[in-house]
Amino acid sequence: MTERKPIGVFDSGVGGISVLRELMRLMPGEDFLYLGDSVHAPYGTKALEEVRRLTIKNVELLLERGAKSIVIACNTATSAAVALLRKKYPDLPLVGIEPAIKPAVLENPRARVVVMATPMTLRQEKFQKLMGMYEEKAEILPLPCPGLMEFVERGDLESQELRRYLTELFWTVSEKPVEVIVLGCTHYPFARDMIQEVVGEQVKIYDGGNGTAREMRRRLEEAGLRNPSSEGGAVTFLNSRNTTEEQELCNFLLHR
Ligand code: DGL
Repeated sequence: MTERKPIGVFDSGVGGISVLRELMRLMPGEDFLYLGDSVHAPYGTKALEEVRRLTIKNVELLLERGAKSIVIACNTATSAAVALLRKKYPDLPLVGIEPAIKPAVLENPRARVVVMATPMTLRQEKFQKLMGMYEEKAEILPLPCPGLMEFVERGDLESQELRRYLTELFWTVSEKPVEVIVLGCTHYPFARDMIQEVVGEQVKIYDGGNGTAREMRRRLEEAGLRNPSSEGGAVTFLNSRNTTEEQELCNFLLHR
């Protein structure tokens, strides 16, 4: 019988739980080990070398705890370190996340697409290349959102302060109407309702969580590592800020 090993998932904090939800929906029989590095969050405004170092540490910890595969549920860590990790662990099923520009553009040709992400994600060559591939098919506007993930880290998904932050953020791209938004940071889906309220119901919003989960399922099937059990799997939360409040926040976000 195959040993029951978990899928390791990590993020700079609690944002990757938006990807974990998709993974669980798609593969309910699997066990998951989720690591949030909230002590060092945010990653998106740090130096590249620092994010690479922290990312490698997260992967090592999950492997030590028995993970059979890894999901980098953080756009920032993916853009900074996925190439490095693929070299370091050539045989490990490893999947990262990137802003869902492809479906957003293909489903909305010639639209005005705003990509919300951390300053680091938008600066990296990986993002520049991705944008380059779709630039002729739509008007793509990168929108750095420093400070937004912190609301989610505090569990604040609906305050007036968050509404004000988002309203001011969208002033910077308001010369023409926004038609499509890509949530290029895994924390942002938790602020989705408020974003929708601020930009209006007509705006279509995309995120990369489901695509990433599907890719992980494909990689596990290919490697013969899918858990054949039909019993509901378990989720274990680890966080570098090891407090009861943090555990509660993780459970709260998982059931949003
Ligand atoms: N959740 C992370 C992402 O997807 C980043 C937040 C941060 O640490 O700055 O990019």
